[in-house]
Amino acid sequence: MKGVILAGGTGSRLFPLTKVTNKHLLPVGNKPMIFHPVEKLIEVGITEILIVTGPEHMGAVVSLLGSGRDFGCEFTYKVQDQAGGIAEALGLAQHFCGTDKMVVILGDNIFQDSLISFVTAFETQVTGARLILKEVPDPERYGVPVMEGDRILKIEEKPQHPKSRYAITGIYMYDSQVFDFIAQCSPSRRGELEITDVNNFYIQNNQCYYDTFQGWWTDAGTFPSLKKASDLYSEMQELNRV
Ligand code: DAU
Repeated sequence: MKGVILAGGTGSRLFPLTKVTNKHLLPVGNKPMIFHPVEKLIEVGITEILIVTGPEHMGAVVSLLGSGRDFGCEFTYKVQDQAGGIAEALGLAQHFCGTDKMVVILGDNIFQDSLISFVTAFETQVTGARLILKEVPDPERYGVPVMEGDRILKIEEKPQHPKSRYAITGIYMYDSQVFDFIAQCSPSRRGELEITDVNNFYIQNNQCYYDTFQGWWTDAGTFPSLKKASDLYSEMQELNRV
């Protein structure tokens, strides 16, 4: 299984913190944001990891992470020329993943639970996708599943009137069909290839499964959520120490 961390985008919601650096290099707790997804992948034994980021700060990202030797993994890097969306960024992983399955983490997602049980469940799936949901107070900020019983009927991206209280978190498990689905996507109103469209292809093909996080989860892409991520992580570390 391969790992992919998507760390492109403009970081515009954190301007001017992101004027001269990449969002994923900002601190969350006592480490750079991007260390968190790296450590989550290594914890499940995924050691071949692709990092996708924009051209502006690729140098800084490579300087920070290096070959992977210090982490016990092997990093490969790909440049996303413009912030054309999460699905576009993932499309750059096609050659790296080949026919292997993959665990994709958005570089600004910070969470408590280990991915071990989710990845183990995904390993038993012959094909398809596996998503992780989390109940949140502000679902309109995220991709939101429309549920019927325990089935996801579809996902709506940042709906004004969310039909459930769940967010689709930025941890996605896919088989290599994902690249065929990305090729069928067209840009959304905000001009991006949307990961929600990709997930909806899997749902339409009855190939989308999901789990739910029990521990805390947040993105870190806005000032309040960056602070929240840092506080939650630091509190957890403090508790682990006593
Ligand atoms: O955090 C989970 C949410 O992430 C999901 O619920 C949404 O369905 C999904 O669309 C996404 O929403 P955001 O609007 O918060 O995504 P954002 O544009 O902030 O991008 C999140 C990460 O994805 C970012 O930290 C880096 C990566 N990314 C994003 C874009 C637009 C790229 O690598 N390239 C890109 O072009």
